[in-house]
Amino acid sequence: MIDVALTPAEMRPAAVAVVLDVLRATSTATQALRSGYRAVLCAASIDRAHELRGPGRVLAGERRCRKPPGFDLGNSPSAAIDGNGRELVLATTNGAPAIVAAAAAAPRVLLGCLLNLGAVAAALGDADDVLIVCAGTDRAVALEDAYCAGRLSVLLGGPRTDAALVAEGLVRAYSEPAAALWASADARRLVQCGLQGDIADCARESVFGVVPRIASSGDGVAFVIAEPVRTAVSVDPHATVTA
Ligand code: MLT
Repeated sequence: MIDVALTPAEMRPAAVAVVLDVLRATSTATQALRSGYRAVLCAASIDRAHELRGPGRVLAGERRCRKPPGFDLGNSPSAAIDGNGRELVLATTNGAPAIVAAAAAAPRVLLGCLLNLGAVAAALGDADDVLIVCAGTDRAVALEDAYCAGRLSVLLGGPRTDAALVAEGLVRAYSEPAAALWASADARRLVQCGLQGDIADCARESVFGVVPRIASSGDGVAFVIAEPVRTAVSVDPHATVTA
């Protein structure tokens, strides 16, 4: 069964969970693993991220879209480049806590977004108990996450729940990913912060073959690495974020 939790409150046990936070946490995590970070440590809170600071670690994240005090980077995918084997500690309002929570709901948890849509679908293969978890925004549905959930659902085989069919229906309302993202409240918030470039960056579809996967978790942290890609997917190996 392919199911969609339109907000984290609807999370339930499943064989596989895929967490989506298109604007921007899972896009940033995917970009980071694509750009030489060896791992992304998703932290449930800003305080937990500060506790994780150490040699070879970079702190990234946001509160109200902006870089938190004492952090090295904000939550823009374009900032999560030049990893050079370091670890990215990522603390965000909705995405990172949803990732940490998903670790308790499923033995296998992947991170998805538009950037790695094809690779995540390929990694799921014919898995038959998949819960797609939308991080949403402040406990409410986020359009861009629901849209991406629908895009992923249509790529998977097998029966769907009504929630998955709702998400698939949303796909038909937009001619392209960018249109869905630009229609969202989160896009408006990013524009207000002068971060509109992130919307175009996150709207690119299947440009990376990276599939982030939770390798371990506990104590408010999910340790995420790149899952080896099992199936060839059509991606541009030289793709990077726009400036
Ligand atoms: C979140 O986790 O709430 C988001 O990624 C928010 C953002 O990037 O501004």
